[in-house]
Amino acid sequence: MSKNITPYKNSDLGKKEQVAKMFDTISGNYDNLNRVISFGIDIKWRKKVLAIVAKSNPETILDIATGTGDLAILMTQTNAKKIIGLDISAGMLEVGVKKIADKKLSNTIEMVLGDSENMPFEDNYFDAITVAFGVRNFETLEKGLKEILRVLKPNGVFVILETSVPDKTPYKQGYNFYSKNILPIIGKLFSKDDVAYGYLSESAAAFPYGEALNNILRKIGFIDVIALPQTFGVATIYSASKN
Ligand SMILES: C[S@@+](CC[C@H](N)C(=O)[O-])C[C@H]1O[C@@H](n2cnc3c(N)ncnc32)[C@H](O)[C@@H]1O
Repeated sequence: MSKNITPYKNSDLGKKEQVAKMFDTISGNYDNLNRVISFGIDIKWRKKVLAIVAKSNPETILDIATGTGDLAILMTQTNAKKIIGLDISAGMLEVGVKKIADKKLSNTIEMVLGDSENMPFEDNYFDAITVAFGVRNFETLEKGLKEILRVLKPNGVFVILETSVPDKTPYKQGYNFYSKNILPIIGKLFSKDDVAYGYLSESAAAFPYGEALNNILRKIGFIDVIALPQTFGVATIYSASKN
């Protein structure tokens, strides 16, 4: 299991409250920051998530840790009738709600303030569930994943997009240098929250990826678990289903 990495070192708040506070603080700059730190490649990864989800022709989609709603907005390119974006940060959701209204997608996408570890949805409700760069921030990963299994329909599709760590030389060394030295500087330039991007690289390095995350998903009860490393392994897309 991953080490409990939290954004603020000297805080009495739990990880969940700290994560919500951090994303509230950086919400106004989050989209720009996201493009810069991934050199825009995250857009390509998100389109791959869309392709996997679209294949199953879902009517209902839940995008957990939706943040400012980029993946929820992309999911409107499926034939889904209802898309829900869920997040614990009111600040991130506020930015997302505005983007969705500007794109005239408010009839299809509903943004909900809520916790992935205790979701306000019935069992077996969603045809597809996605989480992009979110599972790493859950306070208790297994609790969040159990909730996802509960609300996913049998034969539904669950797709995670998450950072991972390249295993091969020289990508591994290049990634370590970038995440320890460059990423925190970009974070400080873009965000009002100094700690935010120190947390990002620290939590990425400590989070289980590849076969380790596959095994956690299988232990929770997911089936057909597959990991698809992207761009030398700096991110991985995981796809899974339910009996
Ligand atoms: C790095 S952002 C990712 C946002 C978006 N999915 C994207 O791809 O750009 C992580 C998001 O996870 C949310 N989050 C963290 N823990 C959560 C939880 N337990 N339940 C719901 N959202 C959570 C944060 O508030 C934040 O908006």
